[in-house]
This record gives sequence, structure tokens and C-alpha cells, in this order.
Amino acid sequence: MPAKGELLYEGKAKRVYRTAEPDQYLVEFKDDATAFDGLKKGTITRKGEINARLSALFFQKLSRQGIPTHFIEQVGPRELLVRAVEIIPVEVVARNVAAGSLAKRLGLEEGTSLKRPVLEFYYKSDALHDPMINNYHIAALELATDTQVKEMESYAWKINTILTEFLKPANLVLVDFKLEFGLFHGHVLLADEISPDTCRFWDRTSMEKLDKDRFRRDLGGVEDAYEEVLHRVEGLPA
Ligand code: TMP
Ligand code: ASP
Repeated sequence: MPAKGELLYEGKAKRVYRTAEPDQYLVEFKDDATAFDGLKKGTITRKGEINARLSALFFQKLSRQGIPTHFIEQVGPRELLVRAVEIIPVEVVARNVAAGSLAKRLGLEEGTSLKRPVLEFYYKSDALHDPMINNYHIAALELATDTQVKEMESYAWKINTILTEFLKPANLVLVDFKLEFGLFHGHVLLADEISPDTCRFWDRTSMEKLDKDRFRRDLGGVEDAYEEVLHRVEGLPA
């Protein structure tokens, strides 16, 4: 594993370190879990390892399908080597089924499938509690250029199709998910993580929740749900 250099950033679920290569960072996934802007805190045993592994598998799948990502290789049980991107402070959420904040805001019953998938942007700002924004806000605040926004949208739709299909044989529904992108030598790359922390995965048959909602909503069986998703995804053909 490349040596961990200066700790550049510590977030709620990950630490990012410099490496000897200026163009590469090392991301370490933690077992810490938070929800509601850090108001609820806990740990999920083995979450760091599971989310690192799942992110690696999803990033590999997506790169093979033509999505440029920050992922280089998994270098430890909870460590990924990635390209040293500068994160664009816009979270991109794609939704296929009404759940969470969308169900609440629009008065839809959770589990209602949407006639068309929905894309939303949120301003990545802890101080402001990640408010929802649109293309005009992104331009006004110069969070990203119009071209970068179009690229993020186009990648998000492609990712939605690829992951929805990929997860079907694992009997998982991709309800919704959050993506972050970064800039690397002027190019937009998919970054951050793809895991049960950042996606809603439901069992196709029972509609049981197999993601961080089990932690957010005190549903129990949190660790088992993360293990189950890993087990199913590891069993999929690459
Ligand atoms: P939401 O329904 O709470 O807006 O969440 C939409 C998706 O985004 C869901 O898959 C979980 C993910 N998400 C994050 O990754 N980070 C967050 O801070 C929140 C609130 C949601
Ligand atoms: N991770 C976020 C927080 O701590 C929220 C979430 O995932 O629900 O605020």
C-alpha cells in the first residue's frame, strides 16, 4: 500500500491522504456513521471495508462501461488509491422510486415508482445543510460551468442505467443514489463513493431496505444489510 502522506481532509465517513504521487490520493473508509447532518452518530461494524470494496466494484464496472472515475485501485481492506480530484461542490441525486426526502417533499408514498427518473442537485455545504439547488444557482454561484453540469447530468443518467441493470441479478432495486464528481486536469471524473451509505438498495422481492436507512431510521439489522449487499454484489459477473 502506498504510504499515507498528509491528511488532507477528514469527513464523516472517510479520510483523504496525500501520497508520494502528486496526482494520487489515498482514501480510507471509516466505520463511523452519521445521519441528519451529524446529529445522529454511531458506528457500523465493518462498514469501512464493505464500502471500500463495494465502491471499488462499482467504479470498476462503471469504468469498463465508459464512465471516467477517480478510481485507480484498491490498495488495502479499507483503502482506495484514487486520482487527486478537486471535488465539485454539487451533489447529484438520481431517483427511480420515491423515497426519503422526495417522498416527504412531494407527499408521495415511499415505494411509488416514478414514471420518469428524477435528477436533483444539492449544494455540498455542511453549514447550509446541503440545500437543493438548480442549474441557475450552480451558474450564479459558479459552482460548476454549464458544460460540467451537462457532463454530470449525462454521466448520472448513464450510471443509473448501468447500475440498475447490474444490480438486477443480485435481486436489488436501485431506488436512488447520490454522486459526487471532481475535476482532474480539467476533466470531470466520477468521485467519492458508491455504497449503501450513498444509495438506497431494496430487495426486489420483499422490498426490504438494505442500506443506510436501517441506521437513519433505527430499523435494526444494519450490519447484516451492508454484509448482504456486499455478498450479493461480489457474486455478480464482472
Ligand atoms: P434523500 O432522499 O435523503 O434526499 O437521499 C437521496 C439519496 O442520497 C439516498 O440514496 C441517500 C443519499 N444521501 C447521501 O449520500 N448523503 C446524504 O447526506 C443524504 C441526505 C442522502
Ligand atoms: N451523512 C449525512 C450526515 O451525517 C446524512 C445521511 O447520510 O443521511 O449528515
